[in-house]
Amino acid sequence: MFSLVIKPIGEEDTPSYDLLLSADPSELAIQVYLPYSTIYQAYIEERLIGQYVFFPVDNHEAEIKNIAVDEAYQGQGIGKLLLQDAIQRAISSGYKILSIGTSNASIGQLYLYQKQGFELSGIKMNFFIDNYSEPLYENGIQCKHMIMLTKELY
Ligand code: ACO
Repeated sequence: MFSLVIKPIGEEDTPSYDLLLSADPSELAIQVYLPYSTIYQAYIEERLIGQYVFFPVDNHEAEIKNIAVDEAYQGQGIGKLLLQDAIQRAISSGYKILSIGTSNASIGQLYLYQKQGFELSGIKMNFFIDNYSEPLYENGIQCKHMIMLTKELY
């Protein structure tokens, strides 16, 4: 068992680009959404082991732009806890919809997000081809399209 603490990044803290880039390999894309987002970081015994990036789309909808768990801590339910934390924070901030996007090749992430109640809501065709300089692969499948999922928070 571990005791997980999830809290917004402090003003004096620097975000972990190792974690951010493990979820989104485009530093340029990260730099576009980060200034408008809040990073929530997860700690076990004061060691930073995960984070998610909470982006307000408008008054009704927020989006998890980036979510990552340190490789050494993956597969222990921390990603699930981060998602549940984001859902609770979105509800308590009055949002009606929480969305998240991942690639067509991200089979495990699609599984995890749907298990937490997110439903397929759209596809941004060729998103990864049009916006990333190098071809990306996961599970031996090219990441071409962004699959959008949303969760209603009523
Ligand atoms: N393949 C298969 N199953 C998976 C995967 C995977 N890659 N990731 C999670 N799962 C399943 C687990 O088996 C588990 O299933 P269960 O509830 O039936 O037991 C469930 O999802 C929850 O798994 P967790 O242990 O909570 O997930 P974890 O702590 O590993 O975090 C995460 C998941 C954040 C995707 C992590 O693997 C990671 O950091 N990956 C690299 C970065 C990444 O891909 N981030 C997401 C990109 S999309 C975006 O950022 C919006």
